[in-house]
Amino acid sequence: MGPLSLVLLLLSAQWSCAQEDPLLPFSEHLDPEHNVRLKWGFDEIQGTILFELTVNTSGWVGFGFSPKGGMTGADIVIGGVGPKGSYFTDRHAVGNSIPVVDQQQNYKLLYLTESDGKTVMKFQRSIESCDDNDLPITNLPMKLIYAYGQSDDIEYHKSRRGTKEVNLLKYMPRVTPPNSKYFDMTMVNFSVPANLTYYHCKIMKAPTFDRKQHIYRIEPFITNLDLVHHALLYRCPPNVTEPFEVKCYTGGGGEECMEAVAVWGVGGGSFELPEMAGLPIGGNVGDVFYRLEVHYNNLNKSAGRVDNSGLRFYYTSELRQHDAAILLTGLALAPGYAIPPKAKSFLTYGLCDTAYIPKVLETPNDLQVFSVMMHTHLTGRKVRVGHFRGGKQIDHLAVDENYNFEYQEVTNLGKTKTVKLGDQLLVECTYNTENRTTLTWGGLSTSEEMCLSSLFYYPAMNLSSCVSFPNLQTLRSAMGANDTGTWLNMMYMNTWNDTSINQYQQTLKRIDQLVTVVDFFNNGSYNPGMIPDLKVIPSTPCMRSGCAIKSLALISLLLCLAVHWAY
Ligand SMILES: *[C@@H]1O[C@H](CO)[C@@H](O)[C@H](O)[C@H]1NC(C)=O
Ligand SMILES: *[C@@H]1O[C@H](CO)[C@@H](O)[C@H](O)[C@H]1NC(C)=O
Ligand SMILES: *[C@@H]1O[C@H](CO)[C@@H](O)[C@H](O)[C@H]1NC(C)=O
Ligand SMILES: *[C@@H]1O[C@H](CO)[C@@H](O)[C@H](O)[C@H]1NC(C)=O
Ligand SMILES: *[C@@H]1O[C@H](CO)[C@@H](O)[C@H](O)[C@H]1NC(C)=O
Ligand SMILES: *[C@@H]1O[C@H](CO)[C@@H](O)[C@H](O)[C@H]1NC(C)=O
Ligand SMILES: *[C@@H]1O[C@H](CO)[C@@H](O)[C@H](O)[C@H]1NC(C)=O
Ligand SMILES: *[C@@H]1O[C@H](CO)[C@@H](O)[C@H](O)[C@H]1NC(C)=O
Ligand SMILES: *[C@@H]1O[C@H](CO)[C@@H](O)[C@H](O)[C@H]1NC(C)=O
Ligand SMILES: *[C@@H]1O[C@H](CO)[C@@H](O)[C@H](O)[C@H]1NC(C)=O
Repeated sequence: MGPLSLVLLLLSAQWSCAQEDPLLPFSEHLDPEHNVRLKWGFDEIQGTILFELTVNTSGWVGFGFSPKGGMTGADIVIGGVGPKGSYFTDRHAVGNSIPVVDQQQNYKLLYLTESDGKTVMKFQRSIESCDDNDLPITNLPMKLIYAYGQSDDIEYHKSRRGTKEVNLLKYMPRVTPPNSKYFDMTMVNFSVPANLTYYHCKIMKAPTFDRKQHIYRIEPFITNLDLVHHALLYRCPPNVTEPFEVKCYTGGGGEECMEAVAVWGVGGGSFELPEMAGLPIGGNVGDVFYRLEVHYNNLNKSAGRVDNSGLRFYYTSELRQHDAAILLTGLALAPGYAIPPKAKSFLTYGLCDTAYIPKVLETPNDLQVFSVMMHTHLTGRKVRVGHFRGGKQIDHLAVDENYNFEYQEVTNLGKTKTVKLGDQLLVECTYNTENRTTLTWGGLSTSEEMCLSSLFYYPAMNLSSCVSFPNLQTLRSAMGANDTGTWLNMMYMNTWNDTSINQYQQTLKRIDQLVTVVDFFNNGSYNPGMIPDLKVIPSTPCMRSGCAIKSLALISLLLCLAVHWAY
């Protein structure tokens, strides 16, 4: 066995344990007989989507995207392993006939095998369309078409084909595990005031269970679709031990419950956890209080409407492989941080240095992150989370270039990303305070600001936050103030202009930070840190297949050559 076949063997061994492939977290059978299975994952920042199609056949397999569900106008790939080797082409259909090979080949084949009557084809493409014969992959449900033959002679035929509608980029599986039940956390007979905008908060306890259960789906439970704008659930710290109701963000309490667990917004659907993880509840987890926040938009200002909206939690006693948990990252909430008025785009930063996690936990582990929820208040416009390892940025963990307080959601990453212990995560928030005339302080009320990103990950650790805050002493002296009074005066008296805003922003980023890791029991570790530079988000080049591409990995090169030899 030569070194090349050894490489191939090792690679295929790695591919054969596809069940756990973090790059392909989603899976659907496209046909009712379960002969055709599609797995996929994507990276919205790189702009690529990865597919693995497995079909019970030794003949050719076809897969594509169709505007209306039929052949006409469809963007199709056809591949297989024939007597002369493997073949794979990007095509399009002009009618009910054999699809025509595209001039530009925009799908990249990564892997193609046939064994035991099964063909497995793994390929990648850009999320955007790169030529007129390809269709862009959108945020909406798309009609996926498939077909396969019993031999390698590609032909048009009426059997062994079909269509299934799937939302690839906003996918929610509908698995129902055994012993599935649900509980609701909702308002009860709440009289919605006759006000245009009203935020109601209800602090309550989750139900208790003798044994641990796993929550696997969180669904909106909305009784007045015309009134409810969004609903959020936050976990409270251990010192919150009494239920109560209050108008949110008015100093009446409950603001300290700020670890977002679930969210539903107008137009949103349910949130499903990946199959290998569930949010634990019950058992020795103890009593935990939550804050349910419902934003009412009473457009008619009608009086006397009663609401019972909230969220529904599906759980099962059949425990999944891992407990999932939520880690709060970003800019710590502490007094002394302000965003100047009249800023078109002001940046703030919060650093999580996971190297400090072992200082508060005995058995820390790497984080497998699958979803994130960004959070700022009304002036937030963008949130980006950079991922650094060994002092270098290796990825953007997540990015929201169009953040809108009114449309917050838990975003699925498209693939499971590993944050190794020792990695750093930088949360960058962009604010617009053009229309404000006074300082916007960091704080809990919606007119104050925050910069947070909640990471949904497994396996769970007893960790609540990993955040940072600029060293205020350094900030004051960097600004030439020797005490708090002088500094406050400078902040308030400054007639902020572009130059001074920019100087202040650069100072905030340059100075040393206090990086804090806090566990479930509020034990913290406090360490110094510096804000690294965040790279600009790369533009996404179109994917081209073909052997001319310089940076092809060895395996792709070999496959590519094989494909070309076959023709
Ligand atoms: C297709 O293959 C899978 C995996 O080998 C098998 O479980 C399934 O029963 C097959 N389907 C049919 C219809 O033969
Ligand atoms: C809520 O209102 C309904 C209808 O008026 C009533 O039957 C129910 O008892 C009320 N529930 C509570 C908890 O007050
Ligand atoms: C609702 O609006 C009324 C009249 O505009 C105002 O007086 C009242 O304070 C508002 N109520 C709440 C709870 O905000
Ligand atoms: C819980 O602790 C936080 C800070 O430690 C404090 O701000 C808050 O008021 C406390 N809440 C209660 C209900 O004691
Ligand atoms: C507001 O009132 C109008 C007229 O009474 C009604 O048709 C409409 O459904 C109401 N809208 C809401 C959001 O309640
Ligand atoms: C500022 O106010 C103007 C005029 O009301 C409005 O057009 C603009 O959208 C506002 N800008 C922001 C960032 O809210
Ligand atoms: C978290 O703390 C609880 C209570 O002390 C403990 O039972 C549990 O094992 C801990 N979980 C982890 C993952 O360390
Ligand atoms: C701060 O500096 C000012 C002059 O810039 C000086 O008058 C004042 O005494 C200083 N205060 C302290 C606490 O050092
Ligand atoms: C901006 O403000 C600073 C002081 O806050 C002042 O020194 C500077 O001249 C101003 N620049 C412009 C262009 O107005
Ligand atoms: C962490 O907090 C727990 C509970 O408050 C306490 O018993 C324990 O001693 C603390 N551990 C450390 C290392 O401070």
